[in-house]
Amino acid sequence: MKEGQSSRTAEAAAALRANHFQNAENPVFSDPFAFELTSKGWKKLLTTSVTVKVMNSAVFNRTFGLLTGQVVGRSRYAEDLLEKAMAQGIQQYVLVGAGLDSFTLRQAQKYPQLKIFEVDHPDTQAAKQSKLRQYGALPENVEFVAIDFEKESIADALTRSTFKQDQAAFFSWLGTTHYLEPATTLNTLASISQIAAQGSEVVLDYSVDYRELEGIERLGTLFVSQFTRFLKEPLKGQFRPKILHQAVEQMGYIVTEDLSGDGLTERYFHARSDHIRHTVATHMLHLQLIKA
Ligand SMILES: C[S@@+](CC[C@H](N)C(=O)[O-])C[C@H]1O[C@@H](n2cnc3c(N)ncnc32)[C@H](O)[C@@H]1O
Repeated sequence: MKEGQSSRTAEAAAALRANHFQNAENPVFSDPFAFELTSKGWKKLLTTSVTVKVMNSAVFNRTFGLLTGQVVGRSRYAEDLLEKAMAQGIQQYVLVGAGLDSFTLRQAQKYPQLKIFEVDHPDTQAAKQSKLRQYGALPENVEFVAIDFEKESIADALTRSTFKQDQAAFFSWLGTTHYLEPATTLNTLASISQIAAQGSEVVLDYSVDYRELEGIERLGTLFVSQFTRFLKEPLKGQFRPKILHQAVEQMGYIVTEDLSGDGLTERYFHARSDHIRHTVATHMLHLQLIKA
């Protein structure tokens, strides 16, 4: 991330959620606050009829729609699993690299017993907090924890908060590992395994090796990597699924699910008339922490 600047990719992700919510029939994930949370530049594009038409055309959906699929698919997947975890008694939700995720606005009041921790880079967090203030006082069950993953462990950051290490927690870490060195991602997962209680869960998305992609997926990834470089948040982290699984298993996790892009398309984007589907460039990983 560029020093002193809130995350531009977080704004782009919010803009894709906003466009999906406003224009897709039967949205895979509904985020009514994404438009207000994104940047002025994106808001302008999202209210210009030509761009709205292009962004929702069949050609766009078959190409750039892969990115929309990735952004709305990961949020849907994480919140589906969060709901199950809450039904089983989990009462701490840690949004790692929260960006402009609007869970706090959408759900904090609905689940007053759920303690929500937004963990993110201080520059992104400062900009988000000023946007959230327009909705009034923050719900009491929300806490902000600042971190730079490249400089500090998440265990140390959470120690500054009211996070309860003896109670299971649900961690979602969406759209972030792509921008970190693989070692930073692994260190963060190891740090979570040290601070979190038995039965905690982690959901994250990760990029696979781009050299294995073909056709529109390869081209799309080239575009995304140029675009994120332009936003000063270059893509840095890719994993081979088996090697990632072995690494997290050594930390005490079990891999409950590793869902490929095709698996996500099958689950959430089946036979959509707008042709939006999930990219095969990223997977969703669901981990459970089993401590001896
Ligand atoms: C693409 S956004 C994803 C935001 C959100 N989770 C979503 O799905 O829309 C990437 C997030 O990673 C955070 N991030 C990137 N590098 C970071 C770092 N070194 N330390 C802390 N946060 C970082 C950014 O602040 C941003 O919120």
